[in-house]
Amino acid sequence: MDIITEIPRMSETARTIRQDGRRIGLVPTMGYLHQGHLSLVRRARQLSQVTVVSLFVNPSQFGPREDYNAYPRDVHRDTRLLGEAGCDLLFMPAVERMYPPGHSTVVEVRGLTEVLCGASRPGHFRGVTTVVTMLFNIVRPHVAVFGQKDAQQAIVIRRMAADLHQDIDIVVAPTVREPDGLAMSSRNEYLTPRQRRQAPILHQALQWARSRIQAGERRAAVLIEGMRDLITTESSGQIDYVSLVDVDRLQPVEDVSDQVLIALAVKFGRARLIDNVIVRVGKRDEPADAESPGSEKWPSPSA
Ligand code: PAJ
Repeated sequence: MDIITEIPRMSETARTIRQDGRRIGLVPTMGYLHQGHLSLVRRARQLSQVTVVSLFVNPSQFGPREDYNAYPRDVHRDTRLLGEAGCDLLFMPAVERMYPPGHSTVVEVRGLTEVLCGASRPGHFRGVTTVVTMLFNIVRPHVAVFGQKDAQQAIVIRRMAADLHQDIDIVVAPTVREPDGLAMSSRNEYLTPRQRRQAPILHQALQWARSRIQAGERRAAVLIEGMRDLITTESSGQIDYVSLVDVDRLQPVEDVSDQVLIALAVKFGRARLIDNVIVRVGKRDEPADAESPGSEKWPSPSA
């Protein structure tokens, strides 16, 4: 696996790969890798000939009181895991090169970024879309793979790629979970042993809502109250939001019909955990999302 830290070298390498007619697959990450990230690398390998993983803890997507400095880092371990997973090229730019003095351009997707996580993390998605556009411009991928774990992020990036005519396939891969259902996340590292024991309640609450919908419940308010009750009685987590929204515009739904994104964010101490499932009614519901086929069923941005 090659490691590239300089932006011009990455651009030149990408140009050569494209001139050779080979497809580039990109997996953007902030490192401290786990099996969720590595599943995206495997997916990118299936979809391209050269798999590039970027590792960049992007300061512009962290709020002033968030965990940029404390964000866990282990470049040696990440490098080893990526080599084992068959990544061809690791791109690891320095912050001062990505954001040199005078940097003043941002990419902002309106509307979709103002709800759910965007409501409590103002500016977060602007940082994400700005850095992802920079990565797209430098790496010039044909396809980029993101995780359903961050469903809103994936939906925002799809919107951005479509709106800016970026000519990149955005593929969304299923959430990878710990054996007890907790969605893998670099931030699980922050959990105390007690919080770690309680955290699977998030997945259980989502599964409870899914099974209530399958049993015929359609009222969002009833489902939300049930999930909130479960989380507050079974854990010390502080709920940021529990929402049922449509997958195109991320607007709250009153009654479940067609397909709905059930998303939540809950704070356990300094770890803010997010999770979600997509539930379909009318048609056959997708299986538990660990086995779901991911992108094929993912809605594409509507006009
Ligand atoms: P990071 O949190 O490192 O996540 C990188 C990618 O891994 C994202 O697409 C995320 O959705 C995916 N991912 C995380 N946990 C996952 C899990 N349990 N199962 C499947 N996929 C999972 O998301 C970011 O970094 C940043 O915002 C980034 C897009 C790199 C821009 O800075």
